[in-house]
Amino acid sequence: MRLSTVALLPLFRAAFAARPFLNEPDTGIEDVLGNTPKGTLPNLTSIVGLPDFDYVARHYMNLSGYSYYRNGAAGEWSYRNNLEAFHRIRLRPRVLVDITNIESSLPTKILGHNFSAPFFISPCARAGYGNAEGEKGLVRGASQGNILYMVSDFSSLSKPEIQAAKTSGQVLFQQLYVASNFTETQRQLDQAAAAGFAAIVLTVDSAADGNRHRAVRFGVGSADSEYTYFTWDYYNQMRNSTRLPIIPKGIMSVEDAVKAVEVGAPAIYLSNHGGRQLDGAPSPLEIALEIYEQAPYVFNRTEVYADGGVRYGADALKLLALGVKAVGLGRPFMYANIYGDKGVKHAIDLMKREVAIDAANLGVGDLKKISPTYIDYRPNYWYS
Ligand SMILES: Cc1cc2nc3c(=O)[nH]c(=O)nc-3n(C[C@H](O)[C@H](O)[C@H](O)COP(=O)(O)O)c2cc1C
Repeated sequence: MRLSTVALLPLFRAAFAARPFLNEPDTGIEDVLGNTPKGTLPNLTSIVGLPDFDYVARHYMNLSGYSYYRNGAAGEWSYRNNLEAFHRIRLRPRVLVDITNIESSLPTKILGHNFSAPFFISPCARAGYGNAEGEKGLVRGASQGNILYMVSDFSSLSKPEIQAAKTSGQVLFQQLYVASNFTETQRQLDQAAAAGFAAIVLTVDSAADGNRHRAVRFGVGSADSEYTYFTWDYYNQMRNSTRLPIIPKGIMSVEDAVKAVEVGAPAIYLSNHGGRQLDGAPSPLEIALEIYEQAPYVFNRTEVYADGGVRYGADALKLLALGVKAVGLGRPFMYANIYGDKGVKHAIDLMKREVAIDAANLGVGDLKKISPTYIDYRPNYWYS
């Protein structure tokens, strides 16, 4: 029996759809770092991109600690989709453009504070699993690289210890999980303000426990495990109870982005918690696209941040092109912190260079002028 080309198309399609998932892409990492003796760290100079830090962490950390960092919800499809979604849309480079000053356009204001780049360290709990000094490497690395660090509510070090590790003038935001009980929430708000944090990052995507199979096997599941009474009214009540700006983190739909703008949120943070809460939740790129298509004014009415799966300069550019002001990275910095501040600084330098050279090759001379015309997000048969 002869099959026509048309009849074969679904088969080609299935073959492309079934690409195996590689935790790190095969760019020779194994060939070069694979010879590192067990229990030692490769020299930082041999780390050439952020995925290398994941490789190092998996071979260096103990299994339960690594599983806590790496873990995603349920079958980890959202974790995987966060990484893969970036490769389903293409860039639209322009050539013969003066890009020689691109590096000078990296500095970015986040809620009025000046930083050296349009990316930041996302709030991640338990830095102590990767480094005995806990969050110190993240605070110091962020200071050396002059980027924002958002400190997790469930950090290994206490809030005063983290504040004590700051350099003079360094700006830190405090992420909070809140309880249903407002008296306790008020205490948390007051504590964050007294400790010197410049803003609150309020995690809104975790009203219930995360369904974390990989982590539960090792007894390192979600630390936020109760059902929380948590509504837009509660958010407004919180805003009326502190002088600090409160940024909702975990916006996953255009409806909620619009709602946040309506209630006057000073910024919103698109995130599915790194795929750790609800398997099936969209990636930040998909959320940003939804907002761009249905309510593009959101990007002008409030500052928009996003995180989840950002590993390359080009990933960041795709989000910035849609109107996102700054992108966060979680796991890469947690893995880099195994090396302490030197690792965190190295990760920042790698990312800064990638953002700059990728923007230059995209034909963007000024990062502040990047726009949706630099990406092609039409559904593409071959890459879907
Ligand atoms: C180990 C780990 C701990 C995390 N802890 C928190 C947390 O305490 N609060 C929070 O809002 N998000 C937390 N997150 C989610 C991150 O803030 C961020 O949304 C996510 O890591 C981004 O995805 P990425 O790791 O792919 O960059 C955590 C993520 C990881 C990997």
